Amino acid sequence: AHQWRGVIREYADRLPVTASTRVITLGEGGTPLAHAQKLSELTGSTVYLKVEGMNPTGSFKDRGMTMAMTAAVEAGAKAVVCASTGNTSASAAAYATSAGLTCAVLVPEGKIAMGKLSQAIAHGATLLQVDGNFDDCLEIARKLADAYPVFLVNSVNPARIQGQKTASFEIVDALGDAPDIHVLPVGNAGNISAYWKGYKEYATATEYAFDGAPARTLEAVSTRLPAMWGFQAAGAAPFVAGHPITHPETIATAIRIGNPASWETAVAARDESGGLIDAVTDDEILAAHRWLSAREGVFVEPGSAASVAGLLKMHGAGRVPTGKTIVCTVTGHGLKDPQWALRTADGGEVEPVKVGNDVVSVAAALGLA
Ligand code: F0G
Repeated sequence: AHQWRGVIREYADRLPVTASTRVITLGEGGTPLAHAQKLSELTGSTVYLKVEGMNPTGSFKDRGMTMAMTAAVEAGAKAVVCASTGNTSASAAAYATSAGLTCAVLVPEGKIAMGKLSQAIAHGATLLQVDGNFDDCLEIARKLADAYPVFLVNSVNPARIQGQKTASFEIVDALGDAPDIHVLPVGNAGNISAYWKGYKEYATATEYAFDGAPARTLEAVSTRLPAMWGFQAAGAAPFVAGHPITHPETIATAIRIGNPASWETAVAARDESGGLIDAVTDDEILAAHRWLSAREGVFVEPGSAASVAGLLKMHGAGRVPTGKTIVCTVTGHGLKDPQWALRTADGGEVEPVKVGNDVVSVAAALGLA
């Protein structure tokens, strides 16, 4: 049986590595492309979910982190740093541990989910809560890496984008061609940039020329390109506003970002693909979160549900075509930020039903007796 070897080894010929590269990997990638039955019935298109919560640390960040940490080791780094809304810090902490590097993470105080905080601590990272938002954290992390001997592993590091583009390769490999539409949440905008890069590289003969390796040209795998549809949280939607947002707010803390680092490449992905970047409200995000868990059987964190919230919004506006293939990336696992599942649609708390220690009480509670 074939054992998935992580994205670097699976796609080595399309990544900046050589035969002698020491690969830092936890076996990331190879995530499910799950058929979303209810979304397909609703839209009349075939909808799939790329379930990125199935990565080793529970988010898509691991695809980028295997490359970033491999690059850090190759550069002789001893310490890495990142700014994060939570998932990047969890991933950086795990991969730094695997690589034998020390890791410092800067997170916005009080605005990261408990699961992500626990991961960074568990993996031994030095976690600093900054009295500011993600955009402030990223600015400090960049200045720190400029002035001190620490290696930056945010997605402004091109190695991260290289790793994350492999998600598009996997989707084309699974479907036999690119989908018609690809939908994903947008925060710092690295991921939409990475997916578009991956789709473009797979759709044309592409030359890969990396340091130390002879250049090679690989043939096209796909025949077409998807339209890229990105969705931001309404309170943190700089692409929709057309300018950075100073005080971004949303319950989807993963994408609570006002000044995306990958601005130009995200706009290029939108425009070159004939796609769009729109906003969804927190209520729409939570409704999509519930749709995914209660109808599709896929538990995601709120930020991840922005893609499906966007698809539902576009469907409501009559803008989702029928008879097409649509992939929605759901970026992080529901267990990262589980509290939202315990809220009722009207904002109340779900109360567990208590029963007596006997079969009659249990049967009665289940309506069987
Ligand atoms: N979904 C989740 C679950 C995320 O954690 C992020 C980003 C995104 C979507 C947006 O991706 O930034 O590439 O547009 N999280 C970063 C972090 C910022 O620090 O973990 P993006």
